[in-house]
Amino acid sequence: MGYHFGVDYYPEHWPRERWQTDARMMREMGITIVRMAEFSWAKWEPREGEFHFEELDEVIELLAGEGIDCILGTPSAAPPAWIIEETPEIQPMDSHLQRHYFGGRHHDCQSNARYREHIRRFVTAYARHFAANPHVVGWQVDNELGNSHEDLCYCPSCEAAFRQWLQKKYGSIDCLNQCWGTAFWSQTYTDFEQIHAPRITAAGKNPSQQLDWMRFCSDLVLDFHQMQADILRRETPDKFITHNMMGFSRKVDYFKLGDQLDFTSQDQYPGGHFVPQGTFRGDVQAAELDFIRSLKHQPFWVMEQQSAITGWETVGRTPKPGQLGLWAMQSIAHGADTIVFFRWRSCVMGTEQYWHGILPHNGKPGRYYRELKAFMQETGPLLKIMQGSVPHPEVAMLFSYDQYDALSIQPHHPLLRYPEHLLTYYKGFYRKNIPVEFVREEDDWSSYRVLVAPLQFLMTEKLSEKFHAYVQQGGVLILDMRSGVKDATNLAFAEKELPAMLDDLCGVRVAEYDCLQETQGSVRWGDDVYPCEKWCDILEVADAEILATYDSEFYAGTPAVCRRQAGKGTVYYVGTEMSPALADRFVQQLAEQSSLHRLPRTPEGVEATVREKDGIQYLFLLNHTDTEQHLCVPDTWEQLGAASAEQCPPYGYCVYRMQADDQPV
Ligand code: GLA
Ligand code: ZN
Repeated sequence: MGYHFGVDYYPEHWPRERWQTDARMMREMGITIVRMAEFSWAKWEPREGEFHFEELDEVIELLAGEGIDCILGTPSAAPPAWIIEETPEIQPMDSHLQRHYFGGRHHDCQSNARYREHIRRFVTAYARHFAANPHVVGWQVDNELGNSHEDLCYCPSCEAAFRQWLQKKYGSIDCLNQCWGTAFWSQTYTDFEQIHAPRITAAGKNPSQQLDWMRFCSDLVLDFHQMQADILRRETPDKFITHNMMGFSRKVDYFKLGDQLDFTSQDQYPGGHFVPQGTFRGDVQAAELDFIRSLKHQPFWVMEQQSAITGWETVGRTPKPGQLGLWAMQSIAHGADTIVFFRWRSCVMGTEQYWHGILPHNGKPGRYYRELKAFMQETGPLLKIMQGSVPHPEVAMLFSYDQYDALSIQPHHPLLRYPEHLLTYYKGFYRKNIPVEFVREEDDWSSYRVLVAPLQFLMTEKLSEKFHAYVQQGGVLILDMRSGVKDATNLAFAEKELPAMLDDLCGVRVAEYDCLQETQGSVRWGDDVYPCEKWCDILEVADAEILATYDSEFYAGTPAVCRRQAGKGTVYYVGTEMSPALADRFVQQLAEQSSLHRLPRTPEGVEATVREKDGIQYLFLLNHTDTEQHLCVPDTWEQLGAASAEQCPPYGYCVYRMQADDQPV
């Protein structure tokens, strides 16, 4: 997969006479790769079967002349007008069965057979045309799969595919009725043909139907990706396939998508569309990067790294001096080997005129160009030596799309969000500079000393056994509120105690619960009292040590956080969502008990992270604050790059190399 700096480039937006200038300026900056062509189907195939790749050939050759290779996108996120004219039913329908029309992007239905024919024709021709071109090194299928309107697509083709999916899963309509609990409100089906996508209803929806629909939608996207990836692999086996993902987006199971890729990529926009003044997002950015790395537990690429002001109709803040380099360095610090900046030049046309590029609209280099050029020149040699290295966290966090989906359908508390809840723990570790890896249920967890498994809402025998075994063998497991509530079909357990199948392991029983709508709770831990949020499990302890109790409501004095030794390991049960202060206390206790390795302590807003390879560690100190930081580091650390920790500039960073056993704890 190599290591590069790159840009997302749209030569089709600019006159041909400009291309050479762009290529030269890119080379002067330190760019060695570009991603192109993911939105320009209309240009390459203006009429069915009539392919025109000449311009793309020309740009590729011109870039190659400056030492720049490229990745090409398949253009299926924006089918051209002539395809829509021929097959208007490709345009997706929302849950009101209202079509969403041509004129933007993502105006496609991914199950439509005719649309798939168009794609197969185009992608085959595309792949064949570039198969022998050594400067096309890889592919991106589509663009940000899953990034379309919230409830697309409910069209007849998708519903038919959903029915087939259900038939395969359940076999008989009786089995489906059972698993969906259709006895409720007379929803019983007598034939699969009666089933629809969870369209807009008069009142309420069936949560089991909704969950299967979300799983189906993810599978459909995976199938859509696989179809294109199969063609590309067949025609161009020596080129890699990656995909630009969107952090904790829910629409597609990224672990499964990762299985179809050679490596994962992330689109990293710390500025979002707009971030309110004073909001710290360094921790969320870090978590998303860790997540994308964790999908395959290997280095990844950033396919779109913010390079300027963001915004569509409205416009975000301008990045502060240094901040663009800091953000890119943060991506590297979490395991990115290549950073592709979005985009080369601010676009003069279309929806994204204000999603700026390295160059402004007028094409003349300004501050972003100068800052990023300096960044690339300084960081290039570092990337070269540290490529292939990754962090080796001792702490894992379980991430499950099933739990995410189920809790999106029924968040309980109106503000409960699955990723944000996981982040309450992640941020606690982040503030202590303890690295975290994300894992999925199927992974082998045994190499992690601590496994944080929040919101294990849907429970199966298999998963429960895996938790038991992990603890028996010496793991430290954290379970919390809303665990073991339902089975995999989203029906609540009828006869089991909460947390179902985990009560014996945790040594607690949830006797009652209290949803903290529009209020907070509190927890007493020793002499200190901390806020807690959204939910309180009211616990009865059978066989566990009580670490903290509630300090509010009629259940004040009853257990909130418990711990139990089991086998060679330990299991914690947390009955609530922790506030930052409570999470800090919890992580402190965990770090002490498990003697977790910590990277050097840093002041608030200064992040420490590490990549490791062959017994060598690369330590990054990232200053997300607007003030110079003065940090002490041991003499044995070798400074790489210009800045030293003693004088780390505002929005600056410094990088050190050390032997693994040098690590200060
Ligand atoms: C996403 C897309 C890009 C572009 C940017 C900016 O990340 O992948 O095509 O639209 O957002 O909006
Ligand atoms: Zn559809």
